[in-house]
Amino acid sequence: MKRLIVVFAALCVLAGCSQNSEMDRYINRLMDGMTLEQKIGQLNLHSASGFISAARVTEEDENVKLLKAGELGGLYGSGDVEYLRKIQEIALESGAGIPLITGMDVIHGCETVFPIPLALSTSWNMELIEKTARVAATEASAKGINWVFSPMVDICRDARWGRIAEGGGEDPFLGGEIAKAMVYGYQGRDAEYADDEVMTCVKHYALYGGAEAGRDYNSVFLSRQEALNGYLRPYQQAAYAGAGSYMSSFNEFEGIPATMNPYLMDELLRKDWGFDGFIVSDATAILEEVAHGIGDLQEVSARSLQAGLDMDMNSDGFVGTLKKSLAEGRVSEADIDRACRRILEAKYKLGLFEDPFRYLNPDRAATDVYTPENLAFAREVSHECQVLLKNDGVLPLKKGTRVAVVGPLAKDATSMAGMWATSSHNSECFTLFDGIAEVTPATYAEGSWLMKDKDLEEGIRFGMMRMFMPGFKAPAIHTVSQQQLIAEAVSNARRADVVIACVGEISTMNGEGASRTDISIPDAQQELLKALKATGKPVVMVLVTGRPLTLGWEEENMNAILNVWSQGSEGGRAVADVLFGDANPSAKLTTSFPRSVGQLPLYYNHKNTGRPHPDYEPYRKFTSCYMDELNGPLYPFGYGLSYTTYEYGPMELSATEMPLGGSVTASVTVSNTGSRDGDEVVQLYIHDIYASSTRPVQELKGFRKVHIAAGESVKVEFTLTAEELSFYNHELDWVCEPGEFEIMIGPNCRDIQTSILTVL
Ligand code: BGC
Repeated sequence: MKRLIVVFAALCVLAGCSQNSEMDRYINRLMDGMTLEQKIGQLNLHSASGFISAARVTEEDENVKLLKAGELGGLYGSGDVEYLRKIQEIALESGAGIPLITGMDVIHGCETVFPIPLALSTSWNMELIEKTARVAATEASAKGINWVFSPMVDICRDARWGRIAEGGGEDPFLGGEIAKAMVYGYQGRDAEYADDEVMTCVKHYALYGGAEAGRDYNSVFLSRQEALNGYLRPYQQAAYAGAGSYMSSFNEFEGIPATMNPYLMDELLRKDWGFDGFIVSDATAILEEVAHGIGDLQEVSARSLQAGLDMDMNSDGFVGTLKKSLAEGRVSEADIDRACRRILEAKYKLGLFEDPFRYLNPDRAATDVYTPENLAFAREVSHECQVLLKNDGVLPLKKGTRVAVVGPLAKDATSMAGMWATSSHNSECFTLFDGIAEVTPATYAEGSWLMKDKDLEEGIRFGMMRMFMPGFKAPAIHTVSQQQLIAEAVSNARRADVVIACVGEISTMNGEGASRTDISIPDAQQELLKALKATGKPVVMVLVTGRPLTLGWEEENMNAILNVWSQGSEGGRAVADVLFGDANPSAKLTTSFPRSVGQLPLYYNHKNTGRPHPDYEPYRKFTSCYMDELNGPLYPFGYGLSYTTYEYGPMELSATEMPLGGSVTASVTVSNTGSRDGDEVVQLYIHDIYASSTRPVQELKGFRKVHIAAGESVKVEFTLTAEELSFYNHELDWVCEPGEFEIMIGPNCRDIQTSILTVL
């Protein structure tokens, strides 16, 4: 049997080699016939300037001009098959006749919109996450897209950063599992791309989520060791899963912008992790290196290429300056050839040389997108992505209950879609009010402005449109007074059995360029909540948000809080399913929710310090704590309630000692002690008590989501080996150091039981 496996493995390797050598021969031949300009042209990526319709493919179109001059290797931002077909035809007729790679920000679904990535991560369900990427790939490939700018795997510990919404939260282990699931979902699990599989572009490489003070694009100050232990794992796991490309990030690391950082691109990603695809810059990131203070466009373009970057998104630095740099000896022909080859290889792997129209099938565009099956799946997904933060027993509601739905987010379809949804169906997303009105008698009142600062609200709502749509005229806001809006909501509330207040952030309050220093529910909406509370009616707060918010008052005063993030196409319906008990919430937080913005950055896997202070004890001088706030979060990492209850039996270790090369099983029996079936996320953490470098007080190293019928019990097992107990030491080696480890199991990072394991 063993021999058979060896022979099979050898055959597989040979098959891979022969495909590679076939590809090499093909690309060698192709490149032999290419001019220098054509090679440099392959390194250029442009935006399709919005969602251009086929009618606009004219001689004046900037991208057509570039194509004809052989100066374009890829286009992104269009999902219009007709347009892309015409563009592809022009590409084949011009220059070296090389097909374009066509990209798009497909982030959480394509036409069918799934919950935003942060919400998706709270499902802790890797199969489900993989399937969302699978469905997105099917839809994207039907729309002419063969390359998706996803997954976004930036770890973030600071909720002020608006792009926390786009990633999988604060934990590198969970982030790594999500990264793999997404890559498998988009690309499939083998090396071949099927017609409905697309190439991933892992972003933003690297450490973008470590932006100082949560301010977007800000500098990152991390040691290599901390970066490797706390942030880099998801990018690494995506490489191991076979991700086809990476996008370099805007930030600097160790004083060098990531887009020209040889350590990140060549040493770590390519040499250490074995990545063999291409790296594209983020939009205008090469040009931004000028503002970073590195040099002029020619200088930064040359350095980026030499550092390992292959494709330039929107800076025109490569097409504009590389020829000159070559003539002046600042880059070599080999540098240009290397980058060009990597891009051609990606096109080859996608099958574009064999059939440049492979992804441009108008029939599929008409039948495979936004299907009833995909929408039904979106609703299922949403059930697993809503975090029940508080419930005094008011939930689930009975159908037939008279409900007053209030709040500026309750009828906001695009905020249900989320900040990165590029679907043409965004405005059809099921709103919370629509969902509730389907199952029970409901009234609606807007209840309040989004916020009191009118100018700021206008900027947040219409800033993008003003920027990109010349002549855009913003509709008037605050036309009805805040008092009048509240009065109407209060009057509806008085006539109802229960109030459902839908408040939080509209989708443009999170995502790119949306950092906040005050992460509470905006003032006008808080005023509404206070007025509703004063009616004495039970108030269920449904929170729409793309980031953790500070919810101290709400936790004390609301009867229930259901955090629904932005749920996508079927959001309102799926939220109503949870509110009325057709679905039992099971989501758990993947980011700590702070008590106060002053605690940020806040993350569960922090270090102990030499003067540790317990998370939930008041101020004590000369310990590491605040005078005016607890150290611990309001809601910890891993936390989330359900309509049933679970009891954890005692943890068992199969042995209390483990030889370095051995393994130990940690198990626990979890019982559903309530009256409803449910899904529980059982979590395993470790703590390396003494190590050659300081280690976090807790680190997630395993999780299982298990279905437990009411009254039933399930035994959950985790296998621990040296791998789970390893870390990057001061010399940056991945090591497991013998000694004692705390092994912790629980329903979240706070409510845990602990055993000691000694590694010999
Ligand atoms: C964002 C990327 C995105 C790119 C292209 C940039 O501004 O940072 O996440 O993929 O634009 O749309």
